[in-house]
Amino acid sequence: MTTPSTTTPSTTPHSTTQSGAPVVSDAHAQSTGADGAIALTDHYLVEKLAQFNRERVPERIVHAKGGGAFGTFKTTEDVSAYTKAALFQQGVETETLTRFSSVAGEAGSPDTWRDPRGFSTKFYTTEGNYDLVGNNTPVFFIRDGIKFPDFIHSQKRLPGSNLRDADMQWDFWTLSPESAHQVTWVMSDRGLPASWREMQGYGSHTYQWINDAGERFWVKYHFRSNQGVNAMTGDEAERLAGSDSDYYIRDLYENIDAGNFPSWDLHVQIMPYADAKDYRFNPFDLTKVWPHADYPLVKVGTMTLNRNPENYFAQIEQAAFAPSNFVPGIAASPDKMLQARIFSYADAHRYRVGTNHAQLPVNAPKNQVHNYSQNGAARYTFNDASTPNYAPNSKGGAAAVEPATVGGGWENDGALTLSAHSLHAEDSDFGQAGTMYREVFDDGAKARFLDTITGAVGGVKDAGIKERAIGYWTSVDADLGAKLRANLGAGEETNSASEAAIKY
Ligand code: HEM
Repeated sequence: MTTPSTTTPSTTPHSTTQSGAPVVSDAHAQSTGADGAIALTDHYLVEKLAQFNRERVPERIVHAKGGGAFGTFKTTEDVSAYTKAALFQQGVETETLTRFSSVAGEAGSPDTWRDPRGFSTKFYTTEGNYDLVGNNTPVFFIRDGIKFPDFIHSQKRLPGSNLRDADMQWDFWTLSPESAHQVTWVMSDRGLPASWREMQGYGSHTYQWINDAGERFWVKYHFRSNQGVNAMTGDEAERLAGSDSDYYIRDLYENIDAGNFPSWDLHVQIMPYADAKDYRFNPFDLTKVWPHADYPLVKVGTMTLNRNPENYFAQIEQAAFAPSNFVPGIAASPDKMLQARIFSYADAHRYRVGTNHAQLPVNAPKNQVHNYSQNGAARYTFNDASTPNYAPNSKGGAAAVEPATVGGGWENDGALTLSAHSLHAEDSDFGQAGTMYREVFDDGAKARFLDTITGAVGGVKDAGIKERAIGYWTSVDADLGAKLRANLGAGEETNSASEAAIKY
């Protein structure tokens, strides 16, 4: 065994075991003689190796690769006519944590693979934590949460070879035509942001806001980047995937470190409660955007990211964002995807971080927590012994507020059903994707888009799936479909392929 160096400055603390006793060597394990077997009495060696084996928690099932930073959100405008939420009252400043991520890749995957990007913000409000867990796209691939596990399986890896596979991606997408709008976003320039700082964030779902008088509104959130919206080319993304797989994390960290704090202005689109019933398409369908001409953006405030994490694992990997974390004045909507997510995330956190994940400093609210839950692995906080651990009680324990003071319901016909959302006059799977291609993309964006889908569909081996993919893009735009067919060197639709194809 070695002894601590005599040159060690006296201010250097001794290393200790987890229980605080001084450690005698970080260089040599105890052994029975210099060449003998190591001894189990070296409990520090055992502790060190055992702790090391437990350094990982399961990675997120989706959005495993990411990074983030702390910041502040300031409400600059008066939106009290629409919500009573304390954080959205004019002048209020709230601490935040934002995590950006990519969806399909694993924890070590390159930042610049084409994908939607996650954009999650936790607002540490005076009324509890409010989490807005969105993406850099305003829509999603599916409109019913029961499809989510199948969708993710198709985008991740084959069970046998563990390889990613274009056939299963396009098989799922073409058999789920509601995906067309989001696939158009992801295959466009928005699928390769120049950095996390230079992309928009969207709450995507329709949420509910409730004002002091109990009036209800439907809202969609938009974070608009003050750094501008910029993309990188496919070639650049591929080069960076090889040379700097942590490119986005580095960009965010270094900019904040240098005092170049990124910021986003938060806007909402507001739909009066009664409009939803007869709006021209279902306003709770996550595959649709609301045209700004119908519901213009209303500014709420500005979020600035100004503090890097001090410890990535404790503050970013263990961060737990949940769409179920609402505060008074903000609530759910009839969006079935949102409702599935309201179950899914807190459940994932109990598995991934532990049943008491909400007590970790990064997840704990800044206000007091009072409830009747107790115990569980790694419990840290507890009530005073005089506090009752059951409700109702006559001992002065915490009492729930009246439902009316929180609000947030809606009416429906009450029949139990397995159908999609109720139909509205202009519901369509391909309409908004086609509008985006024809009216939002300029000629350059159209050319890059065609190039990207040619490469992506070109990787499909199964002729039936490839033909369906051409049919899918033809349904988005006939001219686009014809160009794709020509690029792929595919002949006219054959009988056998059309038998396999779904009719749109
Ligand atoms: C992460 C489920 C749809 C954005 C996750 C996680 C789960 C999940 C289990 C991992 C949570 C964790 O371990 O901390 C689902 C289900 C969905 C769905 C079941 C559909 C029913 C969506 C949609 C969006 C979204 C529509 C965006 C609008 C995110 C983001 C993260 C995430 C940003 C990463 C959160 C973080 O930074 O920690 N999702 N998801 N998801 N999801 Fe979803």
